[in-house]
Amino acid sequence: MAVQIAPSILSADFARLADEVAAVADADWIHVDVMDNHFVPNLTLGLPVVEALLKATPVPVDCHLMIEDPDRWAPGYAEAGAASVTIHVEAASAPIRTLREIRAAGARAGLALNPGTAVEPYADLLTEIDMLLVMTVEPGFGGQPFLDVVLPKIRRARDLIKGRDLDVWLQVDGGVNTETIERCAEAGADVFVAGSAVYSADDPAEAVRSLRARAARASG
Ligand code: DX5
Ligand code: ZN
Repeated sequence: MAVQIAPSILSADFARLADEVAAVADADWIHVDVMDNHFVPNLTLGLPVVEALLKATPVPVDCHLMIEDPDRWAPGYAEAGAASVTIHVEAASAPIRTLREIRAAGARAGLALNPGTAVEPYADLLTEIDMLLVMTVEPGFGGQPFLDVVLPKIRRARDLIKGRDLDVWLQVDGGVNTETIERCAEAGADVFVAGSAVYSADDPAEAVRSLRARAARASG
């Protein structure tokens, strides 16, 4: 299982986004948190900023849509050129149709679960996705403490993916840092989002390397 690190620009300086993404040029993905002040209490950015970012970085962009009505908006992010687009099961009314539209537009399709959402009811949707995102904090804000209570769900999600012999990536997002990343990797995660752990570090590029090394060691 290859380990991938996705710095979240939520903790970056929004006035200097091009420089901030350039500072993590060795990352596997740039994780972009789209929040609409409805699905989550916070408000961040939308498609115009994602379009500008796509022009500013060669690193593939991973859009995490924390918005109401992703059925309406998600395909547009894929059409704009985001390489991965993730919708929340709690927000989608027609997840299968929307996931298929994301894939049809040429992006990887992701499905996200809040900490309190069980994975088992969505087992049959695993064939429709390229990545499952298990939130390890309640979505909405960076810098929150990692929720250890989610670790058993990460293990069960990995077992479901393995049991079906699928090549679905398992992403964790929230409170991932040098203290917590090993637990996530041991539980079976292979894509790691890190916001404050990368952008609050003195050297974001070194933070990415250090997170990758720890995750690789733990995933064996
Ligand atoms: C939270 C966002 C995360 C956030 C993580 O709702 O989805 O991507 O940036 O930030 P940290 O890594 O600081 O918990
Ligand atoms: Zn996120």
